Amino acid sequence: MSVMYISGGRPLEGELTVHGAKNSVLPILSACLLARGPVTLNNCPRLTDVDAALGILRHLGCRVEREGHAITVDPSGAAGSTITEEQMRSMRSSIIFLGPLLARTGEAHLTYPGGCELGPRPIDLHLSAIRALGCQVREDRGIHCTGRPRGGEVQLSLPSVGATENAILCAVGADGPTTITNAAREPEIGDLQSFLNSLGANIRGAGSSTITVEGGRELSGGEYAVMGDRIVAATLLSAAAAAGGRVRLSGVDWRHLSTVLSVFHQAGCRVESRLEYVELERDRNVSLKGVPTVRTAPYPGFPTDAQAPVMAALAASDGCTLFVETMFDSRYRHVPELIRMGADITTEGRVALVRGVERLHAARVEASDLRGGGAMAVAALGAEGTTVLSGLRHVDRGYDGLEEMLCALGAQVERREA
Ligand code: UD1
Repeated sequence: MSVMYISGGRPLEGELTVHGAKNSVLPILSACLLARGPVTLNNCPRLTDVDAALGILRHLGCRVEREGHAITVDPSGAAGSTITEEQMRSMRSSIIFLGPLLARTGEAHLTYPGGCELGPRPIDLHLSAIRALGCQVREDRGIHCTGRPRGGEVQLSLPSVGATENAILCAVGADGPTTITNAAREPEIGDLQSFLNSLGANIRGAGSSTITVEGGRELSGGEYAVMGDRIVAATLLSAAAAAGGRVRLSGVDWRHLSTVLSVFHQAGCRVESRLEYVELERDRNVSLKGVPTVRTAPYPGFPTDAQAPVMAALAASDGCTLFVETMFDSRYRHVPELIRMGADITTEGRVALVRGVERLHAARVEASDLRGGGAMAVAALGAEGTTVLSGLRHVDRGYDGLEEMLCALGAQVERREA
């Protein structure tokens, strides 16, 4: 088991290009099943969730090659339609293979991806989208879906990111046009649309609540670069806010971070947003200020994935901040760890009240989940002393070389075998 030693009290300074987005590369990898020829994806982050997706693609019969941040998937020989229980449990996003499998083979046999650290993660919306596209779904010791998808009307009762993506992926291979209403508007859905259109699909409307898919077009192979990770960017900006200093990030679109930037602006940081970069500066001699309310919501609202890192930064501040988590049940598991570092936070249900303290102190802490791990690194960089962070298997699901990124910004972070 490895742990991270993170020394606090040094300002962060420098520039960094943010790596590719986990939440973009995973649906795009599953979409490769829809192509007729090899697809090369650039800017793929090295993450354990990506390894899990590549394992599923190989199991289904794809040839997969990886060189640095480029991955080539050749789906020509893919004939499989079953994903094992172990693969389904390896990551929540395994469910994103449902739509492409049905579109490719007219069959998909999988199991429930299971709950996760954030609480129960139902897939009812994924299944009702598949049904709306004319496929049969039988739930009997697993999920068995059959039938060639037909175009149809998919009305989501809630703007689920994964269900929107599954509906798009299934509809691309369907006979006839599909309309998805109450679609999620997250930028990664726009990236999926751009990728599929670059292979010859005709999808319109990503970024709005109504998405239309023409369906039935043959998709070629191709080459595509995955968009940058806005949540990794939010974590690095939180780190700069906590430690002080000046950090400039490129490779992400600041408009995808506007709610996060607004919180840091209100907290007293200088924020500069340009087409090419976003920069955050915090004077170490001036405390961050508490912010009235941070309420998570579907995009374009404040991202639930940025809640923990931003809370870690505001734990040491002048004043109070109220967090309201509206997306997931168990998304405050980082709070007890922050309290071990001297934070003053009380939670009740989906609300957390952060009473800012002057400074956090180092401690032995554990990453409770992926973004909780990012949050602990943020807290450690602003704290006095050297924090030891364990539970790195969570961190490695979504941050490609967290310690390298932080060291490139002047932090003292080291990963060692415990
Ligand atoms: C995606 C992101 C995740 C982010 C989340 C919310 C990926 C790979 N992951 O997850 O990082 O935290 O969006 O922005 O892109 N729900 C149902 N039934 C369903 C599906 C979802 O009730 O069938 C509920 C969920 O429990 C949750 C809400 O809908 O409360 C939103 O979840 P959803 O948008 O589906 O999240 P994911 O796509 O799983």
